[in-house]
Amino acid sequence: SAAEKGGYDYFMLKEIAEQPKAVADTLLGRIDAAGSLTLDEVRISASELREVDKVVIVACGTAFHAGLIAKYAIEHWTRIPCEVELASEFRYRDPILDQQTLVIAISQSGETMDTLMALRHAREQGSKVLAICNTNGSTIPRESDAVLYTHAGPEVAVASTKAFLTQLVACYLVALYLGQVRGTKWGDEIHVVIRDLSHIGSDVERVLETMEPVRALARSLAHKNTVLFLGRHVGYPVALEGALKLKELAYMHAEGFAAGELKHGPIALIEDDLPVVVVVPSPRGRSVLHDKIVSNMQEIRARGARTIVIAEEGDEAVVPYADHLIRIPATPTLLQPMVATVPLQVFACELATARGNEVDQPRNLAKSVTVE
Ligand code: AGP
Repeated sequence: SAAEKGGYDYFMLKEIAEQPKAVADTLLGRIDAAGSLTLDEVRISASELREVDKVVIVACGTAFHAGLIAKYAIEHWTRIPCEVELASEFRYRDPILDQQTLVIAISQSGETMDTLMALRHAREQGSKVLAICNTNGSTIPRESDAVLYTHAGPEVAVASTKAFLTQLVACYLVALYLGQVRGTKWGDEIHVVIRDLSHIGSDVERVLETMEPVRALARSLAHKNTVLFLGRHVGYPVALEGALKLKELAYMHAEGFAAGELKHGPIALIEDDLPVVVVVPSPRGRSVLHDKIVSNMQEIRARGARTIVIAEEGDEAVVPYADHLIRIPATPTLLQPMVATVPLQVFACELATARGNEVDQPRNLAKSVTVE
């Protein structure tokens, strides 16, 4: 009913709007007065966590994209090697797992059969499994050694939005916690990252206030067949997520690429007026990547692409190469996906509406996939 949707036309719109609160709720109660993490709910002892020599993330769909992003944070903050694998592929390749492997299973529903089978396989090999889940008491957390719940609240729309942002927050908390118990040099940075994380909710709020041009752009592209998405570093999984949203909601051919791969093949797809969404890394800090993506934009525009550029406020270098410019607040590199994904959610939702599709219940899809 309309009341359940909180006055929004679709659950998806309501859930997009709830993201600032979902992020705040996922941080709540997990940081003590001194600014340290108190993840007592992670019932894997500090001594066991100190012994972890490899992290393996298993998940599907949007949760898999959260895992791809988390890898950057985990390896950067803990220096523990991290692999990310589609849960549906995992057990079939006889992965190398032992007691020192920490497996993180990410699932909104907690009922995804592929992810469940992956974690069962990991536990059979003696690995510890930590679930990151949004549904209390569901099967995946029940079968795991420990669980860190995301507090996004119920997510009804088939397309995952607020769960994704909170999965990122939860993964980052786990990464920082690993750093904290292991006392790596990154332990000192925990306070800074926690402070930055606590600003993300209001950054998302600001993004949400400026979405009208994104909706208008989406409507103007309703007749297109294809949209490509490009990103680098953590912007690459953001591009994959933007493309997945568009596939499931707008039923359009959408593909995400690592921008550096363009010249290895995908640039052949560029033709006149093809919409290409480009997720631009911050010009601060990792300016090398920024420069590279600016030249990628030049290259595709020279071949006729219509660029839709998502870039940080104040990034003037992108202006000459942007047919459409979507601004996001400046954030530290690893946190950028939490703000950069939001316009892509709005874009896909509006395109679906413009094409007359059912937003909350896309064809052929179920909210949780309980078969392999
Ligand atoms: C996301 O928009 C999709 N509907 C889908 O990819 C989903 O993320 C995937 O099926 C995993 O679901 P889970 O998080 O409930 O395990």
